[in-house]
Amino acid sequence: MSESTLAATARAMVAPGKGIFAADVRLKDLDRGAWGKVAGLESEEEAGDFQEMICRTPGLGEHLSSLIVFPEVLDRTARDGTPLTELIADQGLMLGITPTTGFQLLGGSQYEYVPRGLEGLAKRLGSWRERGVSFVKWRVAARVMPGLPTERAMISNARSVAELAALAQQFDLVPIVEPEVEMQGEHSIERQFQVTEWFLHRTFEALYEHGVSLEEIVLKTNMVVSGSDCPDQADTATVAAETLRCLRRVVPPAVPGIGFLSGGQTDIDATAHLDAMNRLGPQPWVLSFSYGRAIGRAAVEAWDGKTDDSNGQTALAHRARMCGLASLGQWSSDLEEAGPDVPASSG
Ligand code: 13P
Repeated sequence: MSESTLAATARAMVAPGKGIFAADVRLKDLDRGAWGKVAGLESEEEAGDFQEMICRTPGLGEHLSSLIVFPEVLDRTARDGTPLTELIADQGLMLGITPTTGFQLLGGSQYEYVPRGLEGLAKRLGSWRERGVSFVKWRVAARVMPGLPTERAMISNARSVAELAALAQQFDLVPIVEPEVEMQGEHSIERQFQVTEWFLHRTFEALYEHGVSLEEIVLKTNMVVSGSDCPDQADTATVAAETLRCLRRVVPPAVPGIGFLSGGQTDIDATAHLDAMNRLGPQPWVLSFSYGRAIGRAAVEAWDGKTDDSNGQTALAHRARMCGLASLGQWSSDLEEAGPDVPASSG
């Protein structure tokens, strides 16, 4: 049987040396740990300018396959009136949408949440497809604390992402299935492993129950790292080995690729971990990135507020290039330290 268009799109999202930039920054998400929080953006206008600066970064499509944005970006224009979608398409990038409208507490829980935004989504998916959108992302998260997560939260969230995935495929959109075990907390890497394995199992069970075609998804998930406040931090080699050991237990080879989230890791850690995994030889799936903070944070820090600011764009292009090299297992800390001006061939 020949490959479906959706399967080809999913593979293109994790094409060799390329990954995804989760540029879904919106002010009302700033208090929920979305990467925009580090941005220090103070108004919707500023967020719009930042987004325009991203879209105008020269060579953005060299190491990125796609951008993820919120739905309102479809109607946003640059200061000169050019639709941002046009700038994105001109860079050769595919466009993905985060349709989540918020999160609500899981009934009976004080700590666990499920995403909102599935109601009425079918109509919107159809119109986005017509406007050239290629994929949608749905994030569900598990929080690690003593006694958490609960099985109920795992199942509810797995069903939520599976429902979105099935719906997206009906509308010819690739779903990015994003179960995230948050790294925030004091837990050990062993606990992170255990919860990640559990959440991924529940997710793939739900995908099967909902009839989702695994060849037509991209999995976005966390690496198996030590909790951010754990006194004993696993080194790069351990993170790489444990993440692969966990994924190999649970993720079917039918899945074309995994675009990791950075989840609060430093830019260098997120890049070094991905690189180390890719140096461990071929895996059943492409190992790539779908970073928000580990690409966008440096750009925000360097940005001077202009829509064509070259410092922000240089920082962004550098991070994209470092991540692209890591997705091939060709990154090095020397290249990292040499900074943005060294051509790729010198590595
Ligand atoms: P981070 O890489 O900052 O974790 O963001 C990825 C993302 O899109 C979360 O949904």
